[in-house]
Amino acid sequence: MSFPKTDKIWHNGKFIDWDDAKIHVLAHVVSYGSALFEGIRCYKTTQGPAIFRNREHMQRFRNSAHIYRIEVPFTVEDLWEANLELVRINKMQSCYIRPIVLRGYGSGGVDPGGAPIETYIACWEWGRYLGDEGLKNGVDVCVSSWHRSAPNTLPQMAKAAANYMNSQLIRMEATTNGYIEGIALDTNGYVSEGSGENIFVVMDGTVLTPPIANSALPGITRNAVITICRDLDIPVVEQVIPREMLYIANEVFFCGTAAEVTPIRSVDRIKVGNGSRGPITKRIQEEFFGITSGSKPDRHTWLSYANAPTGVAVR
Ligand SMILES: Cc1ncc(COP(=O)(O)O)c(C=O)c1O
Repeated sequence: MSFPKTDKIWHNGKFIDWDDAKIHVLAHVVSYGSALFEGIRCYKTTQGPAIFRNREHMQRFRNSAHIYRIEVPFTVEDLWEANLELVRINKMQSCYIRPIVLRGYGSGGVDPGGAPIETYIACWEWGRYLGDEGLKNGVDVCVSSWHRSAPNTLPQMAKAAANYMNSQLIRMEATTNGYIEGIALDTNGYVSEGSGENIFVVMDGTVLTPPIANSALPGITRNAVITICRDLDIPVVEQVIPREMLYIANEVFFCGTAAEVTPIRSVDRIKVGNGSRGPITKRIQEEFFGITSGSKPDRHTWLSYANAPTGVAVR
């Protein structure tokens, strides 16, 4: 996956050069994984670049940090503005935005003690996470032998860097075995989520997704999909999902900032439905991409426009 440089990165309220955004090898985060982060997409629209659900992402960012007793020294409003300014300053039309808050250099032990809190926001150009072809025809995935962490181990409501050691195991196992992505079960063997996506199943016209308590991240795209289903009068329910339901479902799809809405055409080499994108997934995709491209009305004010004067941006 390419990782093209941009000009500037935001650091603790100031813009610095991309190459100057460095931390010490003994920063607390390097040994102990003490970072919380976000992933946000900025879409190219007819009215210029627009950040999808900027406010919700920045609220989750602060929530993730709060769970780990880190108070981000910037408000949601400050961070919301910083994201828009970053897009403008780097002259991006569309991009992926990565806010990170971490414990820096200043403590050698597990107790973070004197380690300073550093906040960064970077952005770069990023294409389709699971491929263009996958969006249309679906992807082949497996159920991972790695489970999500039990609820009383690593909190899954926090988007913490440490959780992504587990995600890496899931993803590497999947790709090693020839799949695009892996689906993790929770500690009780119920469907949780992908290594970097939430998951939905369609059974007899009803859209189902596991509750957050099945060790899934409270995805912002997941929330958007639920809202879109309600808007389109498609029944949608949060429900515990046994593994085998993945095989007999009419449709299965992933969603997330990176994966957007990606159909799944097989699980463990078992064909899902007719083995291609299903009609309900297609309807949800059309609505999602319509809103994010600006071609359909943004009725929930999910977009904030980088080029709109401050205060005029929709959200
Ligand atoms: C583990 C995991 N689950 C779900 C998601 C989807 O969340 P969102 O839609 O907020 O990007 C992501 C991506 O951030 C993720 O990393």
